[in-house]
Amino acid sequence: MAHADRQMTLPSAEDAPESLLIRRGEYPTNVVVGEGLLSRVTRFTGVEERPFVVADEITGPLFGEFLEGKRALFTLPRGEEGKSMENLSKIYAALAAAGVDRSGTLLALGGGVVGDTAGFAAATWMRGVRLIHCPTTLLAQVDSAIGGKTGVNLQEGKNLVGAFHPAEWVFSDVECLRSQSDDDFRQGAAEAVKYGAGEEWAFFGWLEENARAVLRRSLPVLRTLVAECSRMKLDVVAEDEHEHTGARARLNLGHTVGHALEAASGYRWRHGDGVGAGMMVVGRLALRLGELREEEFERLGRLLDGFKIPRRPDMPWDEIAPFLARDKKFSGGAPRLVVPRSGGRCRLRSDIPLAALREAYEEELSGAR
Ligand SMILES: NC(=O)c1ccc[n+]([C@@H]2O[C@H](COP(=O)([O-])OP(=O)(O)OC[C@H]3O[C@@H](n4cnc5c(N)ncnc54)[C@H](O)[C@@H]3O)[C@@H](O)[C@H]2O)c1
Ligand SMILES: [Zn+2]
Repeated sequence: MAHADRQMTLPSAEDAPESLLIRRGEYPTNVVVGEGLLSRVTRFTGVEERPFVVADEITGPLFGEFLEGKRALFTLPRGEEGKSMENLSKIYAALAAAGVDRSGTLLALGGGVVGDTAGFAAATWMRGVRLIHCPTTLLAQVDSAIGGKTGVNLQEGKNLVGAFHPAEWVFSDVECLRSQSDDDFRQGAAEAVKYGAGEEWAFFGWLEENARAVLRRSLPVLRTLVAECSRMKLDVVAEDEHEHTGARARLNLGHTVGHALEAASGYRWRHGDGVGAGMMVVGRLALRLGELREEEFERLGRLLDGFKIPRRPDMPWDEIAPFLARDKKFSGGAPRLVVPRSGGRCRLRSDIPLAALREAYEEELSGAR
């Protein structure tokens, strides 16, 4: 079984130990989880050359000053619009103006939008320069900063242009998460639930025990949460670096229905919320297939409730169905579905008829009324 090569706890000045997860291999990645990390990036990486920083309108002013020795700071507009070809061109122009060459380093300071855009700039500038991620949202810390996927959106669709370009270092400073809005924070919590229900039920149990402290944003609890999710993401990615073997598809638990809800609602449904509802639908399906026990299905619902993740779909099947078919996760006429399993890891299946998904969806939907 693939696993993070090494996991250790380091002493630090503030008596708040950091977790360091190291994965060697084709693309070595070091993930550091802790507090007060932003001012110590150079000490960890040993890279003397000052990084070119990309942030957004929110994260630049909030956290930019904590980063020591920047070469330049480029500010993206906040939100999904930031992830555009137009802004990418502006980053290239700023890189040229700052004289960043092959030996340069890009540092992404922000959520998934900044990480994906700056990551793609790093993948392509001079055919690829070093990348450091400093993710500042829970979603970016537990998910998007690890695994090497970078890219931008086109008018024609999201994430249509991109490249694999893993960061050499990921610094997940959990103190940053304190300033996130509850709505934004919840989107990351849904991904954490996904690791529990899809990868390790022991972690699911830990989440149940610590849900309140997570919501309170207790820093020691967030450190454990982010370190555990990072470990699981590193492991899954190690099994399937370039998304060829199907292992990485496990991370899409709840995403087929989730993406359809997002798109069909014109993005009224947010990503993590959609994943929550999507997990309930495939959870219900797994229950019918005898893959999940009633008790586990109920625990899933309770944990989502605890995180205030709206776990029931609110749109008729006919409205979301066209968006399911547009999703890449279809093979032949049947959806490729990630189905949770009792006490174990979820599994990717292509043998479940769409009608069965519809029934499970409608059962969840009717519960909302
Ligand atoms: N590359 C991957 O593997 C991968 C995986 C999942 C999602 N994504 C992408 O990630 C993006 C979503 O990421 P996100 O949820 O982090 O959104 P985001 O980057 O848009 O951040 C959400 C909002 O929070 C603000 N913000 C960021 N950090 C903050 C902080 N510490 N305090 C207060 N406000 C803060 C941002 O300015 C923004 O307005 C999507 O574009 C999605 O496609 C990528
Ligand atoms: Zn997701």
